Amino acid sequence: MARQEKIGIVGSGFIGRSWAMLFASSGYEVSIYDVKPEQVSAALEDIMQHLRSLEKSGMLRGTTLASEQHKCIKGASSLKDCVEGAKLVQESVFEDEELKKEVLSEIDQLADPDTILSSSTSCIVPSKLSAHLTHKANFIVCHPVNPPYYVPLVEVVPAPWTSKDVIARAGALMKEIGQSPVIFSKELPGFGLNRLQYALLNECNNLLQSGILSAEGIDTLIKDGFGYRCAFMGPFEISALNAHGIEDFIKRYGPTVASVTKTFAKPPSWIPEESGTLIEQVNELIPKEKLMERRQWRDMRLAALAKLKKELKEQEASEK
Ligand SMILES: NC(=O)c1ccc[n+]([C@@H]2O[C@H](COP(=O)([O-])OP(=O)(O)OC[C@H]3O[C@@H](n4cnc5c(N)ncnc54)[C@H](O)[C@@H]3O)[C@@H](O)[C@H]2O)c1
Repeated sequence: MARQEKIGIVGSGFIGRSWAMLFASSGYEVSIYDVKPEQVSAALEDIMQHLRSLEKSGMLRGTTLASEQHKCIKGASSLKDCVEGAKLVQESVFEDEELKKEVLSEIDQLADPDTILSSSTSCIVPSKLSAHLTHKANFIVCHPVNPPYYVPLVEVVPAPWTSKDVIARAGALMKEIGQSPVIFSKELPGFGLNRLQYALLNECNNLLQSGILSAEGIDTLIKDGFGYRCAFMGPFEISALNAHGIEDFIKRYGPTVASVTKTFAKPPSWIPEESGTLIEQVNELIPKEKLMERRQWRDMRLAALAKLKKELKEQEASEK
């Protein structure tokens, strides 16, 4: 049942479509706009197919039918139509700072004074996107992880001028639609997830460049080792469980962490011509012509993991 509260989505690409589905699964009236009207029609068609297949596989979120959720999503004929009266507007256009600033200016002029102005940006710090806005206290970044329907994390990153009320409302809204928000106390480049991803990538690339491990060996190390626990626990819980709590972990393994850390090399170059055999090795593992097929495989595996985690959560709740 629609809840008569509106969400505006600006940009109907991959991320805009995912947001539309997530908000519709909680009964929000979603208005989706794109500078290319044909993109909106394609998005509505694609969303319907997605919702139907999720329903078939038992992975549909929310408590209503796919057809009812689809009815909650409408294409907007203008930006004004999309933004007016919305509780939150989620900007999801290309990752281009100037374009985003322009689009956000227009949204700022059209939105209600208390509308949350949110961006899906992956890397641009919120202060750069919002310094010029009239309602800059309403601006925040809600950065999803791809594919957001199966990976629930949302990084909620305020600009220095974002109001406390907007931070709290954005976090609550993300929780309400079943996502897992992490609220930052201030902005920083790469936010959290990409900073961790890049730290790991740097060490993986160093291991490869030094010839100690191959690309295949490194990927195996993560997917058959490190990654298993990370699907259920963060690094602090993993450490605490590997000893008698975190204090014991620090006493036992702290000196090792510190001494191994001293052997870390500087981050490697990320210029293609200076990346040694990295490109050749990874292209051999995942040939370019197989990328599309592999992406579909990834989404199916993540869907299966999301299903397992949902079942385990329900089981845990029933045992309490
Ligand atoms: N794809 C990912 O893995 C991922 C993950 C997290 C965050 N993001 C971020 O989400 C945002 C969108 O990424 P995407 O992958 O959906 O891109 P995309 O290329 O699939 O879609 C972008 C859409 O924006 C539309 N657009 C361009 N200019 C516009 C304008 N002026 N007004 C309205 N619509 C306009 C385009 O027509 C297109 O449909 C980016 O900021 C990206 O960094 C992407």
